[in-house]
Amino acid sequence: MFKNIIVTGGAGFIGSNFVHYVVKNHPDVFVTVLDKLTYAGNKENLAGLPSDRVKLVVGDICDKELVDELVQKADAVVHYAAESHNDNSLLNPEPFIQTNIVGTSVLISACAKYDVRFHHISTDEVYGDLPLRDDLPGHGEGPGEKFTPDMRYNPSSPYSSSKASSDLLVRAWVRSFGLRATISNCSNNYGPYQHIEKFIPRQITNILSGIRPKLYGTGKNVRDWIHTNDHSSAVWKILTEGKIGETYLIGADGEKNNKEVLELILKLMGQPSDAYDQVRDRPGHDLRYAIDSSKLRNELGWEPRYTNFEEGLQSTIDWYTNHRDWWEAQKTAVEAKYAKNGQ
Ligand SMILES: NC(=O)c1ccc[n+]([C@@H]2O[C@H](COP(=O)([O-])OP(=O)(O)OC[C@H]3O[C@@H](n4cnc5c(N)ncnc54)[C@H](O)[C@@H]3O)[C@@H](O)[C@H]2O)c1
Repeated sequence: MFKNIIVTGGAGFIGSNFVHYVVKNHPDVFVTVLDKLTYAGNKENLAGLPSDRVKLVVGDICDKELVDELVQKADAVVHYAAESHNDNSLLNPEPFIQTNIVGTSVLISACAKYDVRFHHISTDEVYGDLPLRDDLPGHGEGPGEKFTPDMRYNPSSPYSSSKASSDLLVRAWVRSFGLRATISNCSNNYGPYQHIEKFIPRQITNILSGIRPKLYGTGKNVRDWIHTNDHSSAVWKILTEGKIGETYLIGADGEKNNKEVLELILKLMGQPSDAYDQVRDRPGHDLRYAIDSSKLRNELGWEPRYTNFEEGLQSTIDWYTNHRDWWEAQKTAVEAKYAKNGQ
């Protein structure tokens, strides 16, 4: 089994939650986090983790020499590092192409060279979007009405197209260079350590800061929410038991539209249900995401554990309430950027 793993992007939201998960559940594993600490990375996300279990290397996944040096000493690489925010990709796609595509190619080339196991973290957004349930004959439960691993890629934004490109590179490296890799495409995550530019933490920290929450358009867009701890357990399952060359979709049947999520946050934080502003919608805003995770459940026996969304949301609200020092310094700048964009 793996003793020495590299987690790229392990100081970001989902990557750091994965590092915490590994430290807690797999005592024999040493984790090297490779993270550039962009605006989205924060070494505080790893605070308190023992130094004999986790080491942070601040560096860029596009740095071939550094990647070569680290990969040759590792048993596996779990690749989370990415530019991850759709809105940023609409303002400036270039870093998305550099990190998400070029960076992935650097990592998989090194892993192929040293025959190191690679797991690629991707998103369900590579499939584009689905019609709303009411507009479908099977109301979202018929064949082809959720994302499945063999569905055609149809990304909408510079972010999702750069992730789609990286998935295709991984598939080609498996076929052409014998890379021992798996891919997972996950739906929208929520939980602690998520940057406050993202939908759920933005609304929570707006309320905590006395700013009215903001809803894009009418809020009808549906996301399939999964707690980040369930994402972590699924990734570990795929890393250790997944079949090389396969793609697994990770989801927890958590479809909710943005208006429902915002109204639930308002309720849990003791606010009136209409205490928010509607703002300019995101151009090309995907309508609905929904994951069919039956392959992962049936073939690898994975199940999500954090399926009560209201409870998960309450604990996320509690985390942001109790960690003001983690986010407060960034709040003004994040909201100013949105305001400039009419959002
Ligand atoms: N957030 C979601 O809901 C979601 C859903 C499905 C998949 N994903 C995927 O999960 C991964 C992590 O997403 P996240 O939301 O935690 O992102 P995030 O933006 O919170 O974290 C990304 C991390 O990568 C680091 N990074 C960026 N560029 C780098 C580079 N060139 N070299 C090294 N490190 C670099 C950043 O410093 C940061 O720590 C991404 O690949 C994303 O596509 C995210």
